[in-house]
Amino acid sequence: MTVGRLIALEGGEGSGKTTVWKRLKKDLMRSGRFLFCREPGGTEFGEEIRDILFSRQYDMLPETEFMLFMVSRLELFNKVIRPALARGRHVVTDRLDASTFVYQIYAHGLREFEELFRVVQRRYLKPIGDEDWLCPHYILLDLDPEIGLKRRQTAGDTNRFDEKEIKFHHTVRSGYKHFVARERYHTIIDASLSPDEVFKSALDVVLKLTEEGV
Ligand code: TYD
Repeated sequence: MTVGRLIALEGGEGSGKTTVWKRLKKDLMRSGRFLFCREPGGTEFGEEIRDILFSRQYDMLPETEFMLFMVSRLELFNKVIRPALARGRHVVTDRLDASTFVYQIYAHGLREFEELFRVVQRRYLKPIGDEDWLCPHYILLDLDPEIGLKRRQTAGDTNRFDEKEIKFHHTVRSGYKHFVARERYHTIIDASLSPDEVFKSALDVVLKLTEEGV
């Protein structure tokens, strides 16, 4: 049996990533060949971590956040994503490891954590060699954060991560470009286009990678 493809939607706040993910799910789920998941979360344990991360109750150190995102991903990757790919299902995830690199290491400046991040990446997420198939294809929705944050405010859909100053979000944008540049598989989509155009571009990439009809 052939293995599935792993596709990660990534992008800054208000880039339309979650909207695209939901539309892809709606169109592709019924084929039975796709699995859709999101980060942080995606497992029962991971959803609890998600609640803690999004709660305003705790004043967490960026280092603590880093660890929690990593723990949530280890569970999701090894218990859900890897087995699904091995069974030939394609996985489309709303965020993956690029988010931790960009938000925690690059934008929060936890550069000393990059080594640990890379070790975990190589050991648990995309081992080099005969497990190349685990290598994700990143679809980056690239958008000026001024536009992204306005979209979020208009939609009334903000979380504590959106409340950082604009400079942080500009760093997130450049961090993403920096991250995908060294990844084997990636596509950058201009997320300032209309929602339909962005969705269509993302769908084209997914269909091309998975050779599926809708
Ligand atoms: P969420 O509400 O899931 O939605 P969206 O992806 O549409 O913004 O927000 C996830 C937030 O968590 C987002 O602000 C980025 C942050 N995040 C990290 O900082 N590091 C990570 O590793 C992940 C997965 C997310």
